[in-house]
Amino acid sequence: MAEEPILQLDHVTKQFPGVRALHDVHMELYPGQVTALLGENGAGKSTIVKILTGIHRPDAGAIHINGKLQSFSSPRDAWASGISAIHQETVMFDDLTVAENIFMGHMPLKSGGRIDWQSMRARSAELLKSVEADFGPDDLLKRLGVAQKHLVEIARALSHDSRIVIMDEPTSALSAREIDDLFDIVAQLKAEGRAILFISHKFDEIFRVADRWVCLRDGEHVGEGLIKDVDSPKLVKLMVGRSIDRIFPKKQIKIGEPVLEVEGLCNPTEFADVSFTLHKGEILGFYGLVGAGRSEAMQTLFGVSKPSSGTVKLNGKNLEISSTADAIEAGIAYVPEDRQVQGAVLPFGIRENMTLASLQRHASKSVLSLASEQSVTRKLGERLSVKASNWEQRLNDLSGGNQQKVVIAKWLATEPKILILDEPTKGIDVGSKAAVHEFMGELAAEGLAVILITSELPEVLGMADRIMVMHEGRIVKSFTRAEATAEAIVTAATGGGHHAP
Ligand SMILES: Nc1ncnc2c1ncn2[C@@H]1O[C@H](COP(=O)(O)OP(=O)(O)OP(=O)(O)O)[C@@H](O)[C@H]1O
Ligand SMILES: [Mg+2]
Repeated sequence: MAEEPILQLDHVTKQFPGVRALHDVHMELYPGQVTALLGENGAGKSTIVKILTGIHRPDAGAIHINGKLQSFSSPRDAWASGISAIHQETVMFDDLTVAENIFMGHMPLKSGGRIDWQSMRARSAELLKSVEADFGPDDLLKRLGVAQKHLVEIARALSHDSRIVIMDEPTSALSAREIDDLFDIVAQLKAEGRAILFISHKFDEIFRVADRWVCLRDGEHVGEGLIKDVDSPKLVKLMVGRSIDRIFPKKQIKIGEPVLEVEGLCNPTEFADVSFTLHKGEILGFYGLVGAGRSEAMQTLFGVSKPSSGTVKLNGKNLEISSTADAIEAGIAYVPEDRQVQGAVLPFGIRENMTLASLQRHASKSVLSLASEQSVTRKLGERLSVKASNWEQRLNDLSGGNQQKVVIAKWLATEPKILILDEPTKGIDVGSKAAVHEFMGELAAEGLAVILITSELPEVLGMADRIMVMHEGRIVKSFTRAEATAEAIVTAATGGGHHAP
């Protein structure tokens, strides 16, 4: 690969108040190649993306494209130089149409300076077709699902006809099928000679899609090379600075008496006849494809929506839950999957977010105790290895993965009896993932009952005592830890064994 890089980042440094996000970092991107950018939560990956897209300016260092020095003072400059990105936190407009979102900031104009709606719609339709979207340019963004919104972002990146396309954790909200579709698009972009920067915490994706890798640790470049010359233990060691030998530290715990008995839970559209018993000290896995109804069923238990029929018993007594307040009162906590939307108040600080669901624990005679809030925040923050400059730092200023950890901590702070975790390690780096798993095991050992919704097979196989598999809104099969195999679970989750082939 003697080819010249299309993009060169040299000696880039970026300091935020109290945090050195990047220090003397270099990185090269090559045409027709996918470069994976690796690093723990807070390592500086998204900061590089923001510098390359004109959102942040580096304090020092240079960007060259095709050997020419660039200086970006706005995202517009970056587009004009041929760089576009799908960001980790999407910035899109729910009330506008798909076409308007694609061309926001660079709408085609007629000679009089007015917007050329017709050409905008026609070009949008073309772009949507190239990403095989099942919706049109006139659809309102808010009518779309998460995966569809991702396609809009990809179409927007393509609308600039950029030579350099950046994807910052693009698969975190996608189902396995949608990930396959995305990888087809990546292959197409590669074949067209574009350079791609791909950020992901999932090694299987990196080994599937990338040609090269670059690794950051604490804002510094700690290694790079060709994917074919490396394996995941080596990458983990570089990222985390140590090797992790026990990825799933599941302890053998005595399963206690039933805490939650769910019988025939139904809702008119999303799920039907959901029945299971959850015991003290148990980690009960719920596996299924995206859309199998797992989240909806659990949200019903958490009082987000009402069931159309079914009964729920807590410690043997009938439980009526008509609001999330009732659920929290009953000792149920639910960590949502979409933590940015449902879980976090971004303009607030870490402490405020962490104590939001458990304020009454820090109050006596309705006076809040700051000291008690601070001590809980420090304890959970350290336990989940939240990387921040201090515990008052605003969530807005944390890296994506660290925001997620804060939301998990917020629900742990309610000291629940039943903890429902919906895709808890999505977007979380390998090292922190092991910390979350270890914590989960310890909580179970203390008698907490855990429901673990996950789409990651190794996670459910590694952590769950029993596994319930859902397909199209129903529990189709259940496995004990000893019975469970990857193959059997996937077969059940895809409807195998239930429908004729
Ligand atoms: N606007 C900001 N103000 C202050 N600090 C910031 C800001 N943006 C990022 N940081 C800090 O810079 C560091 C790098 O963050 P960055 O978002 O680049 O991490 P990342 O590698 O993308 O992590 P993740 O895997 O969690 O997404 C973190 O310590 C973060 O808290
Ligand atoms: Mg990031």
